[in-house]
Amino acid sequence: MSIHINPSILSCDFADLRGELAAIANADMAHVDVMDNHFVPNLTFGPPVVERIRDVSPIPLDAHLMIADADRHAPVYAELGCASVSFHVEASAAPVRLAREIRRLGARASLALRPATPIEPYIDLLGEFDQILIMTVEPGFGGQSFLDVCLPKITRTRKAISASGLDIQLQVDGGVSAKTVERVVEAGANVLVAGSAVYGAESPGAAIDELRALATA
Ligand code: DX5
Ligand code: ZN
Repeated sequence: MSIHINPSILSCDFADLRGELAAIANADMAHVDVMDNHFVPNLTFGPPVVERIRDVSPIPLDAHLMIADADRHAPVYAELGCASVSFHVEASAAPVRLAREIRRLGARASLALRPATPIEPYIDLLGEFDQILIMTVEPGFGGQSFLDVCLPKITRTRKAISASGLDIQLQVDGGVSAKTVERVVEAGANVLVAGSAVYGAESPGAAIDELRALATA
């Protein structure tokens, strides 16, 4: 199981996106949090800004869409070149159809679950997705505390992925830091998102290296 470190630019200096992206060039992908003030009580940016982030980023983009009506709005992020597009199952009326559309547009389709959303209804559908994203905080803000109560869901999801024999990534987002990363990996996650732990550090590059070392130890 290969470990991927995807820093969230939510905690970066938005006045210097180019420089902040350059600072995480040793990561696997840049995690881009799109919020619409409806699905979550916070607002970030939309397609025009993500398009410029794509232009200047040294690494591929991992879009995390925290937006209502994902069926309508998610495909544009695949069209503009995000390598992976995560949409929330709570915001999609037809997650299988949407995942197929994202794949048809050339991106990896990822299903995101809020902390209270169970994985069980989606286990038979795993083959429709390239990744499952389990939130370990309520989505909306960086810097929140990791919710340990989500660990059993990570374990159950990893077991289901292993049983399926499919090549599906398991991403965890929210409160991942040097303090929590070992628990997260032990539970079965292999794609680790970290916002404040990376951009709050003196050197984002060194923080990425440290998380990778802890996760692969
Ligand atoms: C929260 C976002 C996360 C956030 C993580 O809703 O989806 O990606 O940036 O921030 P930390 O790592 O600080 O919890
Ligand atoms: Zn996120």
